[in-house]
Amino acid sequence: MTNLLNDTQRAQAAAAPTKSVAVHARGLVKTYGTGPAAVKALDGADLDIHTGTFTAIMGPSGSGKSTLMHALAGLDVLDAGQVLIGDTDLTALGERQRTLLRRDRFGFVFQSFNLLPALTAQENITLPLGLAGRRADPDWLTRLVDTLGLRERLKHRPSELSGGQQQRVAVARALVTRPAIVFADEPTGNLDSKHGQALLRFLRDACDDLGQTIVMVTHDPLAAAHADRVVILTDGRVIEEIDNPTASTIADRMLQLDADPNLDTHACSGPGFGSGSTQEG
Ligand SMILES: Nc1ncnc2c1ncn2[C@@H]1O[C@H](COP(=O)(O)OP(=O)(O)OP(=O)(O)O)[C@@H](O)[C@H]1O
Ligand SMILES: [Mg+2]
Repeated sequence: MTNLLNDTQRAQAAAAPTKSVAVHARGLVKTYGTGPAAVKALDGADLDIHTGTFTAIMGPSGSGKSTLMHALAGLDVLDAGQVLIGDTDLTALGERQRTLLRRDRFGFVFQSFNLLPALTAQENITLPLGLAGRRADPDWLTRLVDTLGLRERLKHRPSELSGGQQQRVAVARALVTRPAIVFADEPTGNLDSKHGQALLRFLRDACDDLGQTIVMVTHDPLAAAHADRVVILTDGRVIEEIDNPTASTIADRMLQLDADPNLDTHACSGPGFGSGSTQEG
């Protein structure tokens, strides 16, 4: 067999960092409420997100997935723990600095969309550009709008859009600035399979072709299978990571965890692990 690398090149290849760490989170704790009503949504969660990778976060309803996403994106203040974004300690920043970092580096798809009701779809989508004092890249905007099937709905206000259409506007808004990291909280939860598939393929391509870093919460093993890695959260802690997941390995693991009497995966109402739901309403 021919050696393609000389000794120096081999040593360099061995020493070269794989992917750099985009998000490094350690010991995250977040409690909502006080006294007997207190809920520990995060209970010492640790997680690394590597640059240019697609991570799916799964876990039962109430396990802390949205809280974790908000913490990683600096949308919420933690009780304890540290979040590093590259070299920047997000948890040490003040409100204004966090806002600027979010605006410059992150796109966030909220589980509840958070569209501005008085603005049209188009205005909602381009809002982050205005806030950052940037102009739209027309090619990118066209690609987003067409991939997400929003061309015919751009002049409508959120109240005139279906749930799935609102969700797609929220996704376009999160991606419009081409942020370093996209956080998407159940972005396909309200989409029919056609629009869900188009969105997932788009995210996968953004990761492969543009090196986009993506963190996505989902209950759907088929959606999670588009990711490079699945991170499983229960009771506010990361309990497992699955590399190169397939829908069937994810679904099998979810069923095992659902049946594990040592894990409190039934404590909360709503979907359990394996209940992938897609509907466009
Ligand atoms: N603002 C809040 N005030 C009080 N409790 C909260 C608040 N937000 C979340 N919680 C509680 O924290 C826990 C974690 O909530 P979180 O929204 O992170 O769960 P999740 O894993 O995203 O669930 P789902 O799959 O249903 O979206 C839950 O018990 C929830 O009731
Ligand atoms: Mg949630």
